Amino acid sequence: MKFDTLVVRAKIKPDKTTGAIIPPLYSVATYVLEQVGKDKGFDYTRAANPTRQIMEENLSAIEGGKYGVAFASGMAAIDSCTKLLKAGDHVVCSDDVYGGVSRHFNNILTKYNLKFTYVDTSNPPKVKQVIRKNTKMLWIETPTNPLLKITDLGAMANIAKQHKLIYVVDSTFATPALLRPLEFGADIVIHSTTKYISGHNQLIGGILITNRKDIYEAMKFVQKTIGAVPSPFDCWLTLLGVKTLSLRMKRHCESGQIVAEFLQSHPKVKKVTYPGLASHPQHNIAAEQMSGFSGMISFELKGGISAGKKLMNNVKLCSLAESLGAVETMITHPATMTHAEVPKKERLERGLTDGLVRLSVGIEDPDDIINDLKQALEKV
Ligand SMILES: Cc1ncc(COP(=O)(O)O)c(C=O)c1O
Repeated sequence: MKFDTLVVRAKIKPDKTTGAIIPPLYSVATYVLEQVGKDKGFDYTRAANPTRQIMEENLSAIEGGKYGVAFASGMAAIDSCTKLLKAGDHVVCSDDVYGGVSRHFNNILTKYNLKFTYVDTSNPPKVKQVIRKNTKMLWIETPTNPLLKITDLGAMANIAKQHKLIYVVDSTFATPALLRPLEFGADIVIHSTTKYISGHNQLIGGILITNRKDIYEAMKFVQKTIGAVPSPFDCWLTLLGVKTLSLRMKRHCESGQIVAEFLQSHPKVKKVTYPGLASHPQHNIAAEQMSGFSGMISFELKGGISAGKKLMNNVKLCSLAESLGAVETMITHPATMTHAEVPKKERLERGLTDGLVRLSVGIEDPDDIINDLKQALEKV
């Protein structure tokens, strides 16, 4: 099946009892056994649920993977993945990962004696330099949140193979519509399904997809043991949302390019970062390994903090919100919002400047998005 068909149909069959065209919502905790030791494949929803199982099969088929394990959030999927490690292990991680990931690694997992080194993974020689004897995992986010750095997934596969590392890719910004990390040799792909995959700001969820049976079994064990599982309703909503993933991503990509080009020509904007612009430092790698550049743009205003605040307070259509990857255009000012608690020195060292703005371009008419930004930029 081609991708546009997969997102609508993969692993979805008419319901056996009623013929319902979409999977039923099994909102249930437990299942009645026929007799001792004989069930219909389900005993307790923490371990497995029919709606969740269809979603896991559907999303893994869309990603081109064999196995999917769903979690209550992207962060729960990420935390579960680190349960493959043991005390003393070292992880090499992209330096511009989503702040919630580094917060979890630095503030929680270091208590369990896991070690982390952050490095610019868009620069493969630098990655090789920081690998130690106890390095067990290579953690890549591409494109990164919020600076949209792109990592060459083939180059990372070689490094992971050579050093026998578990190779994880957080592909939330790209989605399987634009990038298939398993085809580049990744062991695990993670998505915050909160974002593009469900697509409508309607839920929080996460999924981990792999072709490796050993990893799948370990993750199923973590899922049923710890129980950070999504509700059946959220799985059902995700199954509806993902059907339009392909259509939505085409629009996000088209409008992302149009809005990025508009911003690039605006006198109040110092710099625009969008993988689809020739000025992006990894534009060529993005063009090679992705089939589109997604809808995320970072740009820097000339006037710093006060310019950022003015822009945020004057947009009308763009929603001032911390999330991304949904049908509505959302705008964030990291210095006063997502990264307000990060000490200024550290924030600036990470490239998160005072005037940095992150824009998640939605599927509205791009003229309306541009007109809104235009009128708000006039007031900056
Ligand atoms: C790249 C990336 N990964 C993971 C997460 C965490 O996902 P969730 O908010 O669903 O826990 C986010 C959230 O913004 C993200 O941007």
